[in-house]
Parts: sequence; C-alpha cells; structure tokens
Amino acid sequence: MSDTPQMVYLNGQFVALADAKISVLDRGFIYGDGVYEVVPVYGRRPFRMPQHIARLQYSLDGIRLGNPHAPHQWEALIADLIGRQPFADQAVYLQVTRGVAKRDHAFPAGVTPTVFMMSNPLVVPSRDQVERGVAVVTAQDNRWLRCDLKTTSLLGNVLMRQLAVDRDAVETVMFRDGHLTEASASNVLIVRDGRVIAPPKDNLILPGITYDATLEVAKAVGVTLDVRAIPHAEVMSADEMWLSSSTKEVLAITTVDGRPFGGGRPGPVFRRVWEAFQRAKSGAPVAA
Ligand code: PDD
Repeated sequence: MSDTPQMVYLNGQFVALADAKISVLDRGFIYGDGVYEVVPVYGRRPFRMPQHIARLQYSLDGIRLGNPHAPHQWEALIADLIGRQPFADQAVYLQVTRGVAKRDHAFPAGVTPTVFMMSNPLVVPSRDQVERGVAVVTAQDNRWLRCDLKTTSLLGNVLMRQLAVDRDAVETVMFRDGHLTEASASNVLIVRDGRVIAPPKDNLILPGITYDATLEVAKAVGVTLDVRAIPHAEVMSADEMWLSSSTKEVLAITTVDGRPFGGGRPGPVFRRVWEAFQRAKSGAPVAA
C-alpha cells in the first residue's frame, strides 16, 4: 500500500477519498435516485468511452435528470482522474444523483446534481478463470422493468449476486417469463451450433458495452450472430454460455447450478472470441 491517498472527484474538485463527503439527504443515499457508469481503462486508455458517455445520457434521460456535463467535459474529467492514479489498468466508476433536498419523493426544483467519480485498479478475470471457466447459479428475474437504465438502485441486483456468492459461484443468471435476461452485473450470451445467440437489448437487460464489443469481435472473426429472445430450455442445452461485462470482459461459464456445463470446459467459440477481444482491447486489428 502506498501512503499517497486515493484521489477521487466530487462536485468539481479532486479530493482524497477520505475527504469526499456528501449530505445524508443526498437522493442517491435516500432513494437510490441516480445513475452510474463503469468504464474499463487499459494502459490509461479508456475502452469505448463514447459508448459509455452515450449510455450515461440514455440513463439520465430515462430518469429525467439533466446531464451536468457535455461529453467532452466528461472525457476531460475522466482523463484527469485516470492521470491521478498510480496504476495503468483502471475501472472508472462515475455516478450522478439528483442531489441534496428535503426528503420528498417528487423531484426537487432547482437542485444541483451530485457528481462523484473514483478509479480503482481494473481486476480482470484470472488466467485460471479464463482457462477453466466460472460457475453460475440461476434464478427468476424479480427486478423492475427498466433494467435498461444503469441506475444506482441496485438492491435487486445485489440480492441476486449474493445468491451466487452463497453457493460459491460468480454470477446469477436470470430468467423472466421463461426467457434469458442477464446476470446480476453482466450480460449473458450463448452458443449453439457455432452461432452466438444474444438476448435483444430491450427494457429487460442493460445494453452492455461489452455485449456490443463481444458481438462485434465475434462477427469480425467470422462467427454468425443471432439476436433474439432465448427460451430457458435453449440456454440450459446450449453448447457454450458466456458472461460479458466491463470488468469480466468475456468469460466462459462451465458450471451451472452445481453441474458441469458445456462439457465443463470453455468451448472453441469462446476461445476464438476471447482472443479477438484481447486484440480489440489493446487497439490491435481484431480479425485474426
Ligand atoms: N456492471 N448487466 C448489468 C446488470 C450490469 O450491471 C452490467 C455491468 C452489465 C454489463 O455492462 P457493460 O458491458 O457495459 O459493463 C450488464 C458493471 C460492471 C458494474 O455494475 O460494476
């Protein structure tokens, strides 16, 4: 541990983490009334920044909160934050809440949003996890119907993740009305007969930036894609199942509800797409 304090951003200033304080009346604290983003940074270069900024705008629009910054301002603030960290691979976390106001459910008038950002070391899956795959459990999706918004109201996701942790798994894969949605903090894709099949980006899942990147690189290496609703039975009998997220990248699932899945080893399509994803994140040409 270095003695230098971690520098974070709060409402216009860079301060040491221990000095970053907000009011207990902040609507992020009282109601979870805010949105957030997590941007992966490789070698101090943010990956797919414009897409993250665009999704932030989408989430803000979805909760009817004005964006306190233009895209170029966000990019400059994030670059400044990245430059203040002593490590090169980072996970930038940013959140915007509806600000501080007397407790009342209705939107307060004339309140300045709270903007908070921090950056932590990016911990991507270990070599062992990439080579052996990871375990998930399954559950019924009981979250609200605006899972397309990246809001800080994450209790549903938190409870889902804990189900996995309780059973020594990394994620909980969810189904709603008999169809695959996503996992507690990742998207889920499957492979059948050599094709990647992904659920549509509707209101039931977060439109993952890594989901898009994974489909793009899969296409670039010649894999056929199919985006459509995926019934439970098709998921459970798939050849491969993957997680995707900014921190997990793309990761094979090899155990489901305590039983081996897909032969218990990452499949051939995963290996190709994982390699291509590694090229994409380093800025190299993707097609092999
Ligand atoms: N989670 N679905 C959910 C519910 C998520 O929370 C996330 C990301 C994803 C994947 O989105 P992306 O590829 O843009 O990271 C899908 C982040 C990493 C988090 O909450 O920490």
